Formats: sequence, C-alpha cells, structure tokens
Amino acid sequence: MQLTGTMKINAEGHLEIGGMDTLDIAKEFGTPLWVLDEQGFRQNCRKFREAFDRLGESMVLYASKTLSTLSVYRMVEEEGLGLDVVSGGELYTAMKAGFPMERVYFHGNNKSREEIEMALEMGVSRIVVDNFFELQLLNSICLEEKKQQDIMLRITPGVEAHTHEYIQTGQIDSKFGFTLSDGQAMEGVKAAIKSEGLNLIGLHCHIGSQIFEMESFRHATAIMMGFLGEVKEILAHEFDELDLGGGFGIHYYHGDEPCDPSEWAKAVMLTVKEKAEKLGIKIPRVIVEPGRAIAGPAGITLYTIGSFKEVKGIRKYVAVDGGMTDNPRPALYNARYLAILANKADQSPVETVSIAGKCCESGDMLIWDAQLPRVESGDILAVFATGAYTYSMASNYNRLLKPAMVLVNEGSADLIIKREDYEDLIRNDRMVARL
Ligand code: LLP
Repeated sequence: MQLTGTMKINAEGHLEIGGMDTLDIAKEFGTPLWVLDEQGFRQNCRKFREAFDRLGESMVLYASKTLSTLSVYRMVEEEGLGLDVVSGGELYTAMKAGFPMERVYFHGNNKSREEIEMALEMGVSRIVVDNFFELQLLNSICLEEKKQQDIMLRITPGVEAHTHEYIQTGQIDSKFGFTLSDGQAMEGVKAAIKSEGLNLIGLHCHIGSQIFEMESFRHATAIMMGFLGEVKEILAHEFDELDLGGGFGIHYYHGDEPCDPSEWAKAVMLTVKEKAEKLGIKIPRVIVEPGRAIAGPAGITLYTIGSFKEVKGIRKYVAVDGGMTDNPRPALYNARYLAILANKADQSPVETVSIAGKCCESGDMLIWDAQLPRVESGDILAVFATGAYTYSMASNYNRLLKPAMVLVNEGSADLIIKREDYEDLIRNDRMVARL
C-alpha cells in the first residue's frame, strides 16, 4: 500500500484522502472517479521548487501534459512554478486559468502556424524550437509581426535513459530536437543566432520519463554543459538558461524506488556549476520540468467492482466500471499499479485477482494479479498514483464516458472536471441530412 500525501485509513477501515472518506466521495460523485489530493499536489510542487531554489538560480516548470485542467493550473501558479505547454490546447487552458504568460514555455515537435501565432499573441515567455523547419517558420512569423521572440533550442543529447522505450526521448534516433552527435545542434545554434526575429536564450533537453537513476540526469547535464562550452568557443555565444526537462520517476509498484527531489536538484545543479567552472562559461539559470512526480502520487482512481469470471485453476477476473479509457497506461506501456479495496482498507489480502476494464478488448486489463481482501461486487477499488497521464490520455473508446475529477482538501471535495454524459458524446457528431 502506498499512502502518500493526506491518505490514511480511517476508524471505519476505509481509505481516506484529503480528510474525506473515499466511500463518501464515490457515493456523491459516482465511479469511476479521479481524486486529486490538493495538499499532496501542492506539497509536490513545493518539494521541487525548494530543492532547486536552495541550490542556485533555477525555475521549476510543471509539465502540464501530465494533467491539464483550469484548477490544476491555478494551483501550479499559486505554488510559484512555471508551466510547460505543448499544444494550443494546453496554452488555451493556461490562458483561461489566468496563468501568467511570462512563466510559460511552449514545447512541441510540430507546432502549427496557428499555434505559433497564438503563442506570440499571448506573449509566452519562451518557445522551445524543436527543428530547422520550425526555426524558419517562427522566424518568418516574428519578422512579419515585427516581433522578437525569446527561444530555446531542443537538443537531443544522445542519452538513453533506462525506461520504457516509448517514453525515452534523449536517444539519437528520436523524433525530437536537434541531434548533437551529427553537428545538427551546432548548425541549429548558428541559424538561431542569425535569425533576426529570434533571441536565443538557452538550450533544452529531455531524456525521458519515469527515470530513477540520477546518473542519467548527471550525464545529460554534463553533455549539455559541454555543448554550451563548445558554442562559446566556436561562436562566442553564451546562454542564460539551460532547461533539463522532466522525467523524475515515482513509485507505482514494488521495486520502484524514487529518491528525494533534492537528489535530482543536486545531480543537476552541481554538475552545472562544476562544468561551468571547468569550461569557463557563465552558470546558466537551470530549468526543470517535472510532471509525473507532481501530479502522479497525488491522484487515485476509484472504481466500483462489477462482474467476475473465474477460469478454473488459472485466474479470477474481476471487472471494474472503467479501464483503458480512463487509464491507458497498462495497455500502452505495461504499466503496473497497486490497489486496495477502499471499503476494506484495514483487511489483509486473501486472494489474487486480475482487474479487468470494461472495454471490448482483451488488452483492457488494469492490474494483473492484484493481492486483495475477499472481493465482492459493489466493493470500491482504489488504484494509487494515477494523477499523471490518465485524464490527459483518456479516451471515449467504446463510447465510455470520461469520469469526473474531484479535488479534495480538509474534508471537502470539489469537482474540477465534470463527468461526461451521453449528450457530450454526440455533441460534435453531425447527422448528414441525406442519410
Ligand atoms: N518535458 C518534456 C519536454 C517532456 O516531453 C515531458 C514528458 C516532461 C517534461 C515531463 O516528464 P515527466 O516529469 O512527467 O516524466 N505518457 C507517458 C509519459 C510521456 C512523457 C512525455 N514527455 C506515460 O504515461 O508514462
């Protein structure tokens, strides 16, 4: 069991979060339900900000692809973090939440002209340029609009982080960024310096997600600093900022052992300082972009147990009222989660069951071989660490309705995402008149 933030087991033996009995929340808002622990989320923001602040000039951006909603952006803003957005949609949400644009960084490997124009209009702080095509496009739009935009270049440092290959991004064969090893990165820097509509402030890299080894971050940081040194030597250009991306791993399952955010801060900030001294370059302001580690542990999902199926001598399937539509991660990445029965949280496991979703697809399995107390229809299953990459990756497959999300704090639960209804499903459908 992984009780983090405000989670605990109350006197009735039920799981509690944010001072609320999860059974009461499930009753009031229905299931499946995403529940976000406000204090847990805010504490995670603070942990990263304080860890980096302590070690020098830095800024923590919340990687909003993890969980993007108006209320979440407001909390991020209040906690003093910046925002990493990757699409017009995330940017629009940030604008609607009143997020200060001078703290917004805009990423993405294929930003459209419309998205770029929107970002310029809103006045985002930095655009992180991913490739030569974008460099030209952005420069021409800036010249047309007689603007100069502060930019960073995304560099692919050639670091293979130990994580699922779908969420590795720093390796040479990647769709992202200017490759360092073949000279593209230096060409990119030269082109950016020459572009009159652009002001090259810094460099960025992101090596992947759900990373536990600080060595991978140290290695990437050292490579990036080496490149900063090369650029100074060859082009006499110095950078104000170095953005080292996100990727800090969290505890989902046995064996996941994340270290404290201060270890990440040390790995990164000390490497930057050491290398800067050695290479005789100025110490850049360090930016990091954690997402999963802020939202992930602060969220749980509540489901109601429905049907059962036993394959004699092989396995017991227990189905819940959601599945790959509200959490595609097990199907996509073989992600593993821990769960308990929220209404029997004080009972010890007595059986091994596999938790199936309700989609018409064998791959829709949430958890294989979960150890639980005796499972009965109507029990409430709580799956831990589901705050990240669940709502943001949810779908309406099989025309299932996307669940609601509530924010819990000190005994109250407030809706931050309304549950979809059937009307929502057909809202954008059009019946062709001739049919
Ligand atoms: N910065 C950049 C440029 C990124 O591409 C990402 C994640 C982050 C920051 C945040 O990384 P985090 O701290 O959350 O690891 N859907 C996958 C994860 C994809 C991550 C994509 N980029 C999953 O569910 O595991």
